[in-house]
Amino acid sequence: MRAHVTRLLLVSVWIVCTGAADWCYQTQVTCDSQCKGPDSWHELNGDCKKNRQSPINIVTRKTILDHKLTPFIFSGYQEAFSSTMKNNGHTVTATVPQSFTVRGGNLESTYKAVQFHFHWGVNGSAGSEHTIDGEQYPMEMHIVHMKEEFDSLKNALMVKHGVAVLGFFYEKSNSANSKYGKLIEALTKLESTDATTMLSGLSLSNLLPSEENMTNYYRYEGSLTTPNCTEGVVWTVFEHPIPLSNEQLVAFTSLKFKDGKPMIKTFRPVQPNHGYPVYRSGCTVILLSYTVLLACACSALGLSRLY
Ligand SMILES: *[C@@H]1O[C@H](CO)[C@@H](O)[C@H](O)[C@H]1NC(C)=O
Ligand SMILES: *[C@@H]1O[C@H](CO)[C@@H](O)[C@H](O)[C@H]1NC(C)=O
Ligand SMILES: *[C@@H]1O[C@H](CO)[C@@H](O)[C@H](O)[C@H]1NC(C)=O
Ligand SMILES: [Zn+2]
Repeated sequence: MRAHVTRLLLVSVWIVCTGAADWCYQTQVTCDSQCKGPDSWHELNGDCKKNRQSPINIVTRKTILDHKLTPFIFSGYQEAFSSTMKNNGHTVTATVPQSFTVRGGNLESTYKAVQFHFHWGVNGSAGSEHTIDGEQYPMEMHIVHMKEEFDSLKNALMVKHGVAVLGFFYEKSNSANSKYGKLIEALTKLESTDATTMLSGLSLSNLLPSEENMTNYYRYEGSLTTPNCTEGVVWTVFEHPIPLSNEQLVAFTSLKFKDGKPMIKTFRPVQPNHGYPVYRSGCTVILLSYTVLLACACSALGLSRLY
């Protein structure tokens, strides 16, 4: 009789713990949250278990120098725009006008910007998705782009190389980055899941490193880092991190997951890369005395890089 009761209890606990579930990050995985953490995302979509998944650890000594990885040509990135920012329960997203485009950098064609969002840790601790030689940065921004001919991400994801993501790391600095003041202030209005706010006077180039500091980057073919984990995504991960003060990094953890708990560790762990190539740009910025020439001296000089 007692054994029977125990089994009943076990069965009911099992049912409670495996109810219909949404995806979530590892920190959210508890019995009562009923959500599927990164290890179980493939149960929601088999693509999450394929072999070209993102993020990855980039082993710099294994990267392949590719002279075709020239500087990017951005259009609209310097214009001020109004963005709708949202706490979507997994991160904070911000819309970007689709008239903003990027080309060059050995991309197949022109891609237009759709949105950007962030991945972070706890109060400035490790939180980026990609890692470089095992080092995890405090935060990472993804600017999601789709090929010009598409009208939605959903459609662009159905085609190999339909989506290109630019990834930027953050590093902790001693002083606040004033260019992020507005964006970080807006986070206070986004504490609860599904909250939205309009932010005007934002410009992408303000949020990014200078163009000279965007010539060094890594390129590989991977996937979305959240379910559906769709593959065929063209990844660019920039080497140069963006500085933010500790306080600014902490501000992101004021956001809340759906269950009201602090939104922390919003990153997928690195995925096995199965030996697929990761390329690196080989650009050296040449500054001439009268003109600032952003050129790609892809010679054997290797001036600005250590490897
Ligand atoms: C993060 O910092 C805030 C304020 O400094 C603190 O209240 C909170 O407990 C910290 N969170 C964690 C998980 O350490
Ligand atoms: C590029 O980055 C370096 C190192 O962080 C910095 O000292 C330099 O000012 C940056 N260049 C520009 C033009 O912002
Ligand atoms: C995710 O995958 C499921 C099943 O394959 C599909 O029904 C759904 O439309 C996909 N969602 C997106 C946003 O592509
Ligand atoms: Zn992302």
